[in-house]
Amino acid sequence: MKIIDGQTNLLGRFRKNVTESFLSDNCPPMGIYETLYDFRDSFGSFMGTEGTHPWSQGFPLTTPLENFNGPSLPDSIDVTSEDRFYPKAWGHPKLREAISKYYNDQYSSEITPENVMVFAGGRPGIYTVLSFLKENVQVRIGNIEWPAYLDIMEQTNTNFQIVPFTKENNFHPDNNTYFDRSGLNHKTRLMPIISNPQNPSGQTRWGEELKELVQLAEQSKNGILLDEAYEMFHSPSVSGIQFVQDLDNSNVFIAGACTKGLQSPGIRVGWIIASKKNIETLANYSSFGMGGVSHPSQLYAVKLLETERVKQARKAVEEHYNWQRKRYGEAFRNMGLGVYTGDGGFYHWLELPEGMTSSELNKRLFKRGAAILCASDCDMARPHSKDPDYVTPYARFFRFSFGPLLPETFESDIQLFKEVLNEYMQDTLHQNN
Ligand SMILES: Cc1ncc(COP(=O)(O)O)c(C=O)c1O
Repeated sequence: MKIIDGQTNLLGRFRKNVTESFLSDNCPPMGIYETLYDFRDSFGSFMGTEGTHPWSQGFPLTTPLENFNGPSLPDSIDVTSEDRFYPKAWGHPKLREAISKYYNDQYSSEITPENVMVFAGGRPGIYTVLSFLKENVQVRIGNIEWPAYLDIMEQTNTNFQIVPFTKENNFHPDNNTYFDRSGLNHKTRLMPIISNPQNPSGQTRWGEELKELVQLAEQSKNGILLDEAYEMFHSPSVSGIQFVQDLDNSNVFIAGACTKGLQSPGIRVGWIIASKKNIETLANYSSFGMGGVSHPSQLYAVKLLETERVKQARKAVEEHYNWQRKRYGEAFRNMGLGVYTGDGGFYHWLELPEGMTSSELNKRLFKRGAAILCASDCDMARPHSKDPDYVTPYARFFRFSFGPLLPETFESDIQLFKEVLNEYMQDTLHQNN
């Protein structure tokens, strides 16, 4: 019998097996998980346990944002015998209704429940869209983006091209760059994938700039996958749906989830908004490949989206995270770090002084129970199967998450970060002298 240790396997560090696996050899865990396991190996306990500092983690607080009058989160859900039926492939009617109403109330759009497909979180929706792209569709993706996109694109054999993200363009290239057709034949269709607000940089397209992006995406031969996981983490909150002219005649896909703004990553509910035709394809897939999403989770999401509740939640999320972004940003600037963060999301996008690397910083942080996410994990041009010779252009950059941090840990977080950084700076100076 083959014995497999789950965690060892997740790491991609397979036990010696006599039998050759039938499964792909190119399926490492997403970068953020690798950081978690490296952390455990170094610190001796898991990130998230007492005494650790989850600065590498992309989850929000799951408790009420009391300082900003955030609403309570539902702590129970009624389950009837009907909820034990198989779910509808495309999503619970009540949830599809609640999601479409939410967008229409908030962004004056006119979508209907038939424009909504429910998934078990943000990732499965994104994965499914990419796995059904036709061969003539070319994805355009920023040089730095959310680590999971690279894994998803590789596993779905997506054809993709990188859009430069540099200090010169402030990690915020023009909308047009994503739709540049130089060298393409007339059959090629273009589909940017953009997280907006962006993970990892917090750069955000909104107002006129977002309007222009959506206009470009609605032109013939174009589409877009706009990932709005961090929709609520910006003033004002942002959704491209506000500017879509004719969703049913477009290849605009908007991804949303209860994961971040609705503070409920554990319920695993996300969705894709798209034309009715594209939603039908996704729902057909669900009928044979997914079987719908848990009813209790969907009903919980309906509660989260209740009109008055969600209004209060949005306001609290926006204010709490604006406040955290500002004070952490000031502290990092005072430490001498380069701060390239935009004005959305719950991450800081930071640069170390010359001579230092984020991977060395992380090794030092691990020893103190903390971790950041090295920018190399967000580098969409990196080889998917690790190549020791590849040198990322972002070696000095890293992402610091303030998503899960309680207001009261600010001083101790900054103190700890400063100590480790100063020690590393001193050592670097000595080495150079
Ligand atoms: C850019 C982005 N999109 C989507 C998601 C949602 O992921 P999920 O709902 O699958 O946890 C995340 C979560 O980290 C994210 O950062």
